[in-house]
Amino acid sequence: MSMIRRVPWVIKYRPRRINDVVNQEEAKRKLLAWIKSWPNVKKKAALLWGPPGSGKTSLVEAIAKELKYELIEMNASDFRRASDIERIAITAARRTSIFGARSKIILLDEVDGLQGRADLGGLEAIVKLIEISRHPVIMTANDPWDPKLRPLRNIAEFIEFKKLRESDVVKVLKRICSAENLVCEEDALRFIAQRSEGDLRSAINDLEAIAEGVGKVSLNIAKTILRPRDREHNPFETLRAIFSSKYAWQAKLAASQSQLDYDQLIEWLNENVPYYITDYEELWRAYEALSRASVYRGRIIKSGNWDLLSYVMDLATAGVALSQKVPRYKWARLKFPEKIKRMAETKEVRELREEIAGLIARHIHTSRRLVKSDVLPFLRVIFENNPRYAAKIALGLNMTDKMIQYLAGSKYNEVSKYVKYFSEMTKKTVETKLIQKEPSKKTPKAKKKTKKEPESSLLSYMKK
Ligand SMILES: Nc1ncnc2c1ncn2[C@@H]1O[C@H](COP(=O)(O)OP(=O)(O)OP(=O)(O)O)[C@@H](O)[C@H]1O
Ligand SMILES: [Mg+2]
Repeated sequence: MSMIRRVPWVIKYRPRRINDVVNQEEAKRKLLAWIKSWPNVKKKAALLWGPPGSGKTSLVEAIAKELKYELIEMNASDFRRASDIERIAITAARRTSIFGARSKIILLDEVDGLQGRADLGGLEAIVKLIEISRHPVIMTANDPWDPKLRPLRNIAEFIEFKKLRESDVVKVLKRICSAENLVCEEDALRFIAQRSEGDLRSAINDLEAIAEGVGKVSLNIAKTILRPRDREHNPFETLRAIFSSKYAWQAKLAASQSQLDYDQLIEWLNENVPYYITDYEELWRAYEALSRASVYRGRIIKSGNWDLLSYVMDLATAGVALSQKVPRYKWARLKFPEKIKRMAETKEVRELREEIAGLIARHIHTSRRLVKSDVLPFLRVIFENNPRYAAKIALGLNMTDKMIQYLAGSKYNEVSKYVKYFSEMTKKTVETKLIQKEPSKKTPKAKKKTKKEPESSLLSYMKK
């Protein structure tokens, strides 16, 4: 199990000092000048853009370490919602008073990872954070022309990171070879660098895969182990490769060449392990590895410590592959994971549920989670059994048709009849009141109608 303890090289050899970041001299100069004169700068934020694995995140981390800034680091998945961003801003502001004068940098990593409608609020919140922040905000992205990032143009300094040259990549690989006491042929390193197309992260990963598997890096071995990068493996190919791996590195390589990310990979494995492995003891070991992977996955989410990801990957790949005493090439019909299928099928309903929960949570000042567990079930009972009362609630909370449909189920027609009735009533009552305020205009008709359903409580609720 010793391999499971190891830290991947991309993390182990992350630049610790600004000088360790190769190339990118212009970006370094610009960013350093900007940060040192903060807050006396034209633009309060900086956006570092450039190809993957070129040192954006690394440079910010190195600057923080060397200049002794406290780094508050967040990834796109952490700032989906406006409330998250507010929390960061508040935490950052607050911490000053507790820990004294130590300056901070807020790093919002991979802002172009914000996607689609659900994240719209995220970008607005970033803009707001930049406006109110008392600390420099640095963002990273790959594509500066992404229309999503347009709102940032006027408030962020755009700093370009160049694609690394082959010689830069070779330089770093050599450094690692000597630190690891590895015999590395120069040709092999050049081959790896060429293949990485300037992405140092992938070059380091390739070097590690070869070194771990063979212990020596020669051009021949590099060519055999590293398949052309032109095609990513589909889930079926990935799973077959993992189940037939003899060595840990083969299984890990299969995962790194896959279209699947690690979450999806775990789902695929969860679903398919029993089709592939039939021996009970082996099956037990495979699921043991997967469940441990999932424990680490949970810890990453709780703690934000992404260094644990290497354990997740090792357990899910090598852990599963080596649960078999003898890895066999065996044909099995692999299945698409039920969970992913179900999640896709129920996406709309889950979103609607979230919306309703959010709506109610805002009104009664509690969490969505509490609403989902303690309020929604009762609301459903009300909507299914007392359409008249349900309609009042729906109107009071300004629910959409879809929300009513979700809560009322087969009683939807009845509830919506009442909704129409009450909202017309309300309109008329308001009109009457308006007319009443004007002196001496007779409106006997309207007055009569309001008597039919006195809705003072509903009206007062809606006025809030
Ligand atoms: N210029 C560089 N100098 C030294 N090491 C680098 C450099 N660029 C990348 N690396 C190495 O590659 C790894 C990934 O780099 P980093 O996370 O900084 O890339 P990035 O530009 O932020 O990429 P992405 O856009 O994918 O987030 C680092 O851990 C580091 O080991
Ligand atoms: Mg990065």
